[in-house]
Amino acid sequence: MAILEIKGLRKSFGGVMAVAGLDLEVEDGHIYSIIGPNGAGKSTLFNLISGYYPCDEGRVFFKGQDITGLPPHKIARLGIGRSFQVTNIFPKLTVFENIQASFIYTRGKGLKLFSDAGKLFREETEEILSKVGLIDQAGELAGTLAAGDRKRLELGIVLATGPDLLLLDEPTCGMSPKETANTIDLIKEIAEKESLAVLFTEHKMDVVFSIAVHITVMNFGAIIAAGKPDDIRANEKVQQIYFGEDRCSSK
Ligand SMILES: Nc1ncnc2c1ncn2[C@@H]1O[C@H](COP(=O)(O)OP(=O)(O)O)[C@@H](O)[C@H]1O
Ligand SMILES: [Mg+2]
Repeated sequence: MAILEIKGLRKSFGGVMAVAGLDLEVEDGHIYSIIGPNGAGKSTLFNLISGYYPCDEGRVFFKGQDITGLPPHKIARLGIGRSFQVTNIFPKLTVFENIQASFIYTRGKGLKLFSDAGKLFREETEEILSKVGLIDQAGELAGTLAAGDRKRLELGIVLATGPDLLLLDEPTCGMSPKETANTIDLIKEIAEKESLAVLFTEHKMDVVFSIAVHITVMNFGAIIAAGKPDDIRANEKVQQIYFGEDRCSSK
């Protein structure tokens, strides 16, 4: 079953067609990748799916429900968790508090405003910290973490929202090859254990080929190829646009 279904999605910024009438289906429990050069429209697509930007045209269905036009917090509560290309953490809170804040944000509805927030969701928070391998850094300030650990924390923050679909925007951006490999293993492991569907954007081709069962290639807001890793690897159009492209933008 398709957990996410996108039909004719379109978004322009001034004269720039960032997403140009795009169709995409994500099957439940599988890992999908969207690749494409900088400016192809990948982040915009994520912003449209998660409700951060309104679309100009088209519809987004999640678990069969039309979620087009819903605000981001409602979409998050329905089960779409997303991370951003640029890390989105509270740098002055500890690693523990960052995850805890995510639980409170998602599940804390109805809690007393001045209740002792520090005591809430402690067990759940520890469980997530173990999952993403940050239990030893629980007390460190999030702002002092190395790039790879920050991304792990982000993943933890998203997992705390209890998603069925994870949208990860360039999850290995800025990482060394070793950190990249570790992060990919972690994403795979978590996706399998929690039977999550994952849609992620990526620049490094080897990462994509090692993790995704299905790859969609975007250029100028449109899909130029879609299929299994072997088909994509052999695709001439893909090879052309990818020649010399191997870094993520810092936007
Ligand atoms: N908020 C915005 N305002 C204006 N233009 C934008 C905005 N977000 C993205 N764009 C433009 O849309 C196009 C797609 O960008 P983006 O989705 O960030 O691509 P990618 O993530 O694939 O690098 C680019 O031309 C970019 O400059
Ligand atoms: Mg992007």
